Amino acid sequence: MKKTAFPIRPEVLDFEEYSPGLSIEDIRQRFGLDKVIKMASNENPLGASPLALEAMRRHAAFAFRYPRGCAPELCAALAAYHRLPESCFVPGNGSDEIVDLLLRVCPSPGRHNVVACQSSFSMYRIASKLCGVEFRAVPRRDDFSFDYKGLLAAVDENTAFVFLSSPDNPTGFCPPWEETAAFARALPSSCLLVHDEAYADFCGDIAAHSLLPRFGEFSNLVVLRTFSKAFGLAGIRLGYGVMPEGLANALRSVHMPFSISILAEAAGIAALGDHDFYERTLRLVAVGRAFLTETLTGMGCTCFPSLANFLMFKPPAERKTAAEIFEGLLARGLIIRSLKSYGLPEHLRVSVGTPEENELFASALGELIT
Ligand SMILES: Cc1ncc(COP(=O)(O)O)c(C=O)c1O
Repeated sequence: MKKTAFPIRPEVLDFEEYSPGLSIEDIRQRFGLDKVIKMASNENPLGASPLALEAMRRHAAFAFRYPRGCAPELCAALAAYHRLPESCFVPGNGSDEIVDLLLRVCPSPGRHNVVACQSSFSMYRIASKLCGVEFRAVPRRDDFSFDYKGLLAAVDENTAFVFLSSPDNPTGFCPPWEETAAFARALPSSCLLVHDEAYADFCGDIAAHSLLPRFGEFSNLVVLRTFSKAFGLAGIRLGYGVMPEGLANALRSVHMPFSISILAEAAGIAALGDHDFYERTLRLVAVGRAFLTETLTGMGCTCFPSLANFLMFKPPAERKTAAEIFEGLLARGLIIRSLKSYGLPEHLRVSVGTPEENELFASALGELIT
């Protein structure tokens, strides 16, 4: 970025902005295609919860009103859904907003640091940098699992949080809850574990992987959840953090008062009650993930075990590079995720789609590889 006559903070001037998955419209225009399939941003292949859509229609007439601050009805619904105290919930304009708030509220710029795995969800690094907080990225083990010893070695008395996403984006790795709990307990009491469970719904047995059912056993735990994935509301921007009450109060005190719209709050409450949509989503993802894993492995790709709604894979290098495959798929109207911006240029990530999308993707990939 160029220097300007007016002040812009140095952190911003050399910023590497978040690189989202490409959009359908971009690729339609670039290649002059009629049909483009997006399997790049881990969205819900079934679309949005029908009950959420209906709730938004009902609330549309109130668009002229300001929402109530901090979505109190949603917080009450979430507290009942998770059987946890309402005072521990902080809703956000996507869980991204909670990451941003945590970084602005807890660490002091220039003094504290945060720790995460190398090649983790980029918002952790971006938000830290914007806040002037040192970001320490710890290498993973060779199989992309978390190196708890390495993470602990990077933590010191000035570490405000360790971020772990589980199931992990982009690898799909998801350890049993006991492993994560042992890690949380090994951290200094002043250091929070921020356990990002954006994809927890897809892991088959949530109780075997999530820390949320055991939230009360920890004093240094923040759990992040989102409505963007299993509930199909990515475009509405709704997520939340569950955290110790004192921290929740601090976040609420600086939260933009209206960051959750009337429509988002109504959609979130309705989506929580849409059991049919939720169950259909989980079944579709489990079947699609198994299909993609088996088919891609059969083509000679290395697939990494995933409990999320996406799969990270490495194409057989002797035939085509990941970059060639990514571009080849784009030209055929299929958008997946290059992991170059995650520092993994040899790997690709594909979101589980509908059965038809999965088939189309697999056959296009097959053409490119063979
Ligand atoms: C690990 C992880 N956390 C959080 C998010 C952001 O979720 P939201 O849409 O709620 O901001 C994503 C989005 O892809 C993600 O992959």
